[in-house]
Formats: sequence, C-alpha cells, structure tokens
Amino acid sequence: MSRFLNERFTKLVPYVPGEQPTDMSYIKLNTNESPYPPSPKVHARMTAGEIDRLRLYPDPLGSALRAKAAAVYGVRPENIFLANGSDEALALAFMAFCGRRRPAVFPDITYGFYPVYCALFDVPYETIPLRGDFTVDIEAFCGVGRNVILANPNAPTGLAVPVSDIERIVRSNPDNLVLVDEAYVDFGAESAVGLIGKYDNLLVVHTCSKSWALAGARLGFVFGQPALIEDIDRMRYSFNSYNVTRQTLIAGEAALDDLPYYTQMRGKIVRTRERSAAALKALGFELTDSKANFLFARYPGKSGGELYQKLKALGILVRHFDKPRISDYLRITIGTDAQMDALVEALKRILEK
Ligand SMILES: Cc1ncc(COP(=O)(O)O)c(C=O)c1O
Repeated sequence: MSRFLNERFTKLVPYVPGEQPTDMSYIKLNTNESPYPPSPKVHARMTAGEIDRLRLYPDPLGSALRAKAAAVYGVRPENIFLANGSDEALALAFMAFCGRRRPAVFPDITYGFYPVYCALFDVPYETIPLRGDFTVDIEAFCGVGRNVILANPNAPTGLAVPVSDIERIVRSNPDNLVLVDEAYVDFGAESAVGLIGKYDNLLVVHTCSKSWALAGARLGFVFGQPALIEDIDRMRYSFNSYNVTRQTLIAGEAALDDLPYYTQMRGKIVRTRERSAAALKALGFELTDSKANFLFARYPGKSGGELYQKLKALGILVRHFDKPRISDYLRITIGTDAQMDALVEALKRILEK
C-alpha cells in the first residue's frame, strides 16, 4: 500500500479471484468456466474484418446484442443492461442503488464479492445465516426492509430456491430492491427474469461466463424495468461508457444465435454433474444438491484445505474457501467426463493413503 492511497480504501479487503495459474497445466476445476468452447458461430464471426474494426469504438448502446438478448429472454431491449462481466453489473448496481441510507442484506454464505462492493461503496450490510443444511431462510428475507442480494443458485453451495420464493421476497419488500444473481441458473434452476414486468423493484443479473462459455470475453446482462436500467446506465456513463468491447458484442450476438448448441452443452454439463456427484458419494463424500456447474462437497473427518493442497499437487485445481462454516468443503467445477474421472481417481488415491 502506498502512502498516497485514499484513506477511504486503506482498510478495503479486495475479493480474491480463483487462481489462474500459468506455471503448469492443471485440470482446472476452480473457477466454474465451461469445459467446452463457445459455439462454432462465435468462431465464424471473429473475422479479420472485425480485427480491422478494432480501431473503432464499440456501439455504446450495444443495440444489436440487446435486441438479440431481448428476443431470447422474452423482454424488450430497454429491459437490458450490458456489462463487462456480471461483476461489473453487480458493482454498478451496488453503486446505483445501495448506500448509507439504502443498506443491503444477503446470506452469510454467498458470493464473496458482495461484501467487497459494500466496503468499496460505503454500504452498511447485514447477513442472514443460511440454515444448517445451507438452505436460504426465505421468511427472514421477507419484509426485511433493505436491498436484498441473493445468488440463485447460491454460490458456493449450488442450492437453488424456486422462483415463487423469490417472488415472495420481492413482493414483501416493495420499497427496496431485490437483486437476483443468476450466474448459474442455466444449469437447472428457475429464472426470475419472467417477473421483471410485474415488479419495479426486481433486478436479475446473468453472466455469459458459465453457461455461454465466454468467461474470457467478459459479458453480463442485467434485466429490469427501464427506470432501473437507466439508473445503472447513469453509473456506466459516469465511469466507462464503452464498457463492452467490439469483440465481446460480436461474440455475444453469435452465441445468442446458437441456442441449440448451448442447450446441448448445458445438458452435457448437468449429466456430468450428476454422474460425478454419484461417484463422489460412493467414495464417502457428502454433497449439497447442486443446481450449478459445480459441486460442493466434503469428506467427513478430512480438512478441505488438505484435500485442496493434495489435489493441487496431483495437478487438479479446485476451490477451497477458508471461511467459517464452509472450510471443510471443496467447490469443484464440472469439467468434461474425462476430467471428472481424473478427479475421482485422484481423490481415491488421496483417501487410500
Ligand atoms: C454468483 C456469482 N456471481 C457473479 C460472478 C461473476 O461472473 P462474471 O464477472 O465472470 O460474469 C460469479 C463468478 O464466479 C459468481 O459466482
């Protein structure tokens, strides 16, 4: 830390992203990327002509992509904000809607970036504990009178709540925003996007990093009523108006043009998830009923940190959070069947020793 850092940020504890190692090639099951490439249509659109056009700024409205996304999600383009990854969408939403007089609430175990945004934007927050089995206490969020932030499915537990529960929370907090982070919704949960027409206090955030295989492109969507989208746009135009690159706009459009490819890809990931969950259970692991593209698992009597280290030594990277209540757990991204077989074999070897 230099002596020039603004004193507001000297106590800021930044988010620690999953490792992106370059020292050797790992089986990388630690950041919930897709094990499969983007649609061939994305390859086809990344032409030499597009490289030449990189000299030009992108369309700040992202009109073509928003029109496509509107058609795919059954909303209007005015209901969509385009972000440089959903992390940026979340940051701009916290910036726009949360503050000293608009505090936030989220579960005690959830995506680790939420408290960081609160610290960055000076937002007081409370957490509501997940139950012992990691399920969300829906009643506790009803009428809570703060801006509610919920990941559904939750991270890193993978557990999802039905959209009827989301609706109860939205309906019971009419004077506060409810932001539903649906980063993993395409792997088996119900989306709340269909509710945005009905509620002026609902925002739904999606990412193209997982179920659209575009983590490197950095693309996220926010769905909400036009007044909310305009507010987030105020933040963007006050911060970085060209937030989504030309290549990313094109990649996003091409991806949205190939729903059959992605439906098949997600189906494959879900089948691998179920198969891998069964294999881990057979080894003696305990797992949550994950509806995401990862598993959340612990082995009774073994520390999560130790399993993480031993897997890493065998060339397999998973995620371990050294945090209260979940330090025994590993979060394991669903890879290909072959990668997951290698994981199960490695765990077998570790446990036999
Ligand atoms: C719950 C949740 N929300 C948002 C994100 C951010 O995704 P991105 O910024 O790649 O869109 C992640 C990434 O892991 C996540 O787990």
